[in-house]
Amino acid sequence: MIDAPAAEAELRDAHGRRIEYLRVSVTDRCNFRCVYCMPLAGLPWLPREHTLTDDEIVAVVRELAPLGLRRVRLTGGEPTIRPGLVELVARLKALGTLDDLSLSTNGTRLVALAPALRAAGLDRVNVSVDSLRPERVAELARRREPFDPLAALDAAERAGLGPVKVNVVVIRGRNDDEVEALAALTVERPFHVRFIELMPVGELADAEAAAGRDPLALVLPSDELLARLAAHGRAIGRPLERAEGPARGNGPAAYHRFSNAAGTVGVITPMTHTYCGSCNRVRLTADGRLRTCLYGDHEVPLRDALRAGAPLRPLLLEALAGKPREHALLARRTGGLRALSEVGG
Ligand code: 5AD
Ligand code: SF4
Repeated sequence: MIDAPAAEAELRDAHGRRIEYLRVSVTDRCNFRCVYCMPLAGLPWLPREHTLTDDEIVAVVRELAPLGLRRVRLTGGEPTIRPGLVELVARLKALGTLDDLSLSTNGTRLVALAPALRAAGLDRVNVSVDSLRPERVAELARRREPFDPLAALDAAERAGLGPVKVNVVVIRGRNDDEVEALAALTVERPFHVRFIELMPVGELADAEAAAGRDPLALVLPSDELLARLAAHGRAIGRPLERAEGPARGNGPAAYHRFSNAAGTVGVITPMTHTYCGSCNRVRLTADGRLRTCLYGDHEVPLRDALRAGAPLRPLLLEALAGKPREHALLARRTGGLRALSEVGG
């Protein structure tokens, strides 16, 4: 008997997109309250028993592997505040089915955890860095203590968690005066600094609207940003050139490089250029819903089936069949988008 029919060997959605990448939110909690992400008061945190256990997360990844899943990213909230994260990384690695196991973090616990995460089998990290000034990081994250993100980037690089990607959410008037300095990091360091267009949702957008301003004016379009970086490149004698992205984990970013620089700069453009057509990802929320689009209500709960020992396969296929062609944020229909911290960014 020959088993494993080819038709099931790949995870494809109804629009023919191959799904090989899962983002797993391992906690909904965070030690930051970034203005664009979480309400200052926090969110009604999930009761602990609603959060998937290590066994349950491993079970979902194991079920998806024969369907083509090759890459997993652990997100949050802030994933490093989940107790036992290092053990979870080790268990996912031990499945032996993943080409790429990565983590998105705000960096606050990397100095402490980077070596153990690497030893457990984590391949690489993305670190959110919205400013290089410790006081401004604190202000944007609405936390008391200043935080130096360079210490986190150094720790990641030293531990071998590269290529290190640096994610910057650009907010006009709040941190856009630092885009040249952030990009210039890549001249000497092998970092991949990616500027993300702000998606104006949540408290930040509400506050702008309440002040009579258009929240969309907070967005710095990537074309404008790239023009500024090109001017900076000319000023430092290193023209900005198109570049290949980092070898691992190429997502929706378009990359450039200051001539002969160690790293690259990229832009991620959820607001000005959609890339839904090449979307290769689905998300697992901290409470076990498989979410097939960041926006809208496209999700299928897996937790009850997991806990009842019911088969996951029909639910996974149902979720994919409902993955929408593209999101509608530009049409200002956010479809009840929750804080990004809840859906794993
Ligand atoms: N706009 C753009 N990116 C966001 N993120 C969270 N909220 C937003 C938003 N409103 C992403 C960023 C950040 C990560 C934690 O989640 O990439 O670095
Ligand atoms: Fe936390 Fe990241 Fe959201 Fe900031 S953006 S509040 S670090 S989850």
